[in-house]
Amino acid sequence: MCGIVGATASRNIVSVLIEGLSRLEYRGYDSCGLALNNAGRLSRTRSTARVDDLRSTAREARLNAGTGIAHTRWATHGAPVTDNAHPHFSPSGERPRIALVHNGIIENHEALRTELQGAGYEFSSQTDTEVVAHLIDHLYADDLLEAVRQAVTRLQGTYAIAVTCDAEPHRVIGARFGSPLVVGVGEGENFVASDAMALAGVTDRIAYLHDGDLVDIQPHRHWVIDAEGRPVERPVLTVQAHSGAAELGPYRHYMQKEIFEQPRAVSDTLEGVQGIVPELFGDPAYKIFKAIDSVLIVACGTSYYAGLVARYWIELLAQIPTRVEIASEFRYNPSVPNARTLVVAISQSGETADTLAAIRHAASLGMTRSLAICNVSTSALVREASLSYITRAGIEIGVASTKAFTTQLTALHLLALALAETHGRQSDEQLAAQLRALRHLPAQISAVLALEPQIIGWAEQFARMENALFLGRGLHYPIALEGALKLKEISYVHAEAYPAGELKHGPLALVTRAMPVVTVAPNDSLIEKLKSNMQEVRARDGQLYVFTDEDTLIAPSPGVHVIRLPGHYGLLAPIPHAIALQLLAYHTAVARGTDVDRPRNLAKSVTVE
Ligand code: M6R
Repeated sequence: MCGIVGATASRNIVSVLIEGLSRLEYRGYDSCGLALNNAGRLSRTRSTARVDDLRSTAREARLNAGTGIAHTRWATHGAPVTDNAHPHFSPSGERPRIALVHNGIIENHEALRTELQGAGYEFSSQTDTEVVAHLIDHLYADDLLEAVRQAVTRLQGTYAIAVTCDAEPHRVIGARFGSPLVVGVGEGENFVASDAMALAGVTDRIAYLHDGDLVDIQPHRHWVIDAEGRPVERPVLTVQAHSGAAELGPYRHYMQKEIFEQPRAVSDTLEGVQGIVPELFGDPAYKIFKAIDSVLIVACGTSYYAGLVARYWIELLAQIPTRVEIASEFRYNPSVPNARTLVVAISQSGETADTLAAIRHAASLGMTRSLAICNVSTSALVREASLSYITRAGIEIGVASTKAFTTQLTALHLLALALAETHGRQSDEQLAAQLRALRHLPAQISAVLALEPQIIGWAEQFARMENALFLGRGLHYPIALEGALKLKEISYVHAEAYPAGELKHGPLALVTRAMPVVTVAPNDSLIEKLKSNMQEVRARDGQLYVFTDEDTLIAPSPGVHVIRLPGHYGLLAPIPHAIALQLLAYHTAVARGTDVDRPRNLAKSVTVE
């Protein structure tokens, strides 16, 4: 997704800008660019290739400036072509006065475009962003901060922007509403970025801006004002931002590396868990958990599927009514608010715009008790929620969520147990047994990873297919959904998941020899029902690819391929089974030669609606 880096210093900041962009690259983008303010002369370089190309161009051209802004763009309005890449200039043409980069979406861009065209501005892109550059130029008198402050009052939608102006060459103005922006504080130099990670190695002193804030950075000072123009203090924290420069080691792709990191990631997520107590989720958790009578989970994509598994666990173990909503839908759907609800937001990044909007919407309806299950402790989601549990997956670079998902499940299982404990729904012995099972998971995951050679054999067959069905039941239907999502997002094989009992109500019509049917079949309470559904597939000559456990009696036979996961997982079976499906998707994508870590059209962190 889009990324911003801005800097002003008394040294050449070109390498800081480019290094910052390359740290944000893994999030997905389709063009990039930078604008430099060299003693009052604005110049820019833009590319639809990689940040590395920008780096080579900058090196060859010996670019040099003390002030600049840079951007990676993930196209929303207008195709991923150079004209639409940021920074945008105003006026367009030979002698620009304003350069601007923007994350987010300006919803009233059409009305502003018409107004600014009326004022004589010419547009050179199809973006919603260019209007902001022209609007600031239109409002500019002699103070960039004031022009930006006035301009943002005219914007509807979401934005994080960084702006520089030819007449004020030692100044960058930032502003945010709905999209993240941080200030990096250095010695005689200051920065803005959409994520502290972009500034790793440059400064670890970070101030997080609030919605409506504007910041004025100059080499020797930074200055924050709120939406009303009043000076405000935003504390400067020391943040250990990961550099993002994770090594691949012996792995071919980050996704493969991240799949293989799961024993460590799950074990780290459980670190420090001595017993099942609500305080694992924050000091006020006992009071909050005691006061609630329902749970509402909001999330997107893979995190939503983690939520579906969690509903099963919470209802079974804690007997608390739980509903799960896709965050982008929840915010617009009618709902019957219940103030005694715990709103659980699940997100790897903690910056997903739809998920953030969902917890804000819930709060606006009076559902103010919130819990973030998140992989980034400094994210907006963690800062906004009343409680949090930080998964310790470590940085996830591959766009496809893998270790983030299984660590979310680990944290959510702990949540179900903690709610059960608070409401007295499980005995101490039962809770201790579940915690022992969780602690055993890393070893079990390692055993599943050892199945990679067998799974590669299946993947080679899947790589020749254009469609696949995934079946599961009960607790494992969300795992079928996740398996289908993994396969489609990285291998581009069309995949759909169904609860196996639904097959006969429609999708069975699709079953032929050319439609592989992946079945998630651990030894759970529905295994016999699932076996009947598998017979329905075989009766139509469908080819079954079954992931099962040690002790089911499912055996290979013509048309029935079986991989047996070693071990007995009980309620935790979704975790090892999800990992087997990750390996299937990964190796299918490798066999098809796709860009596994950066699948087309997708971004790692979706910070626009
Ligand atoms: O950072 P989040 O967990 O909030 O992201 C949610 C989804 O965008 C994410 O899970 C997405 O579906 C992944 N590409 C799935 O692999």
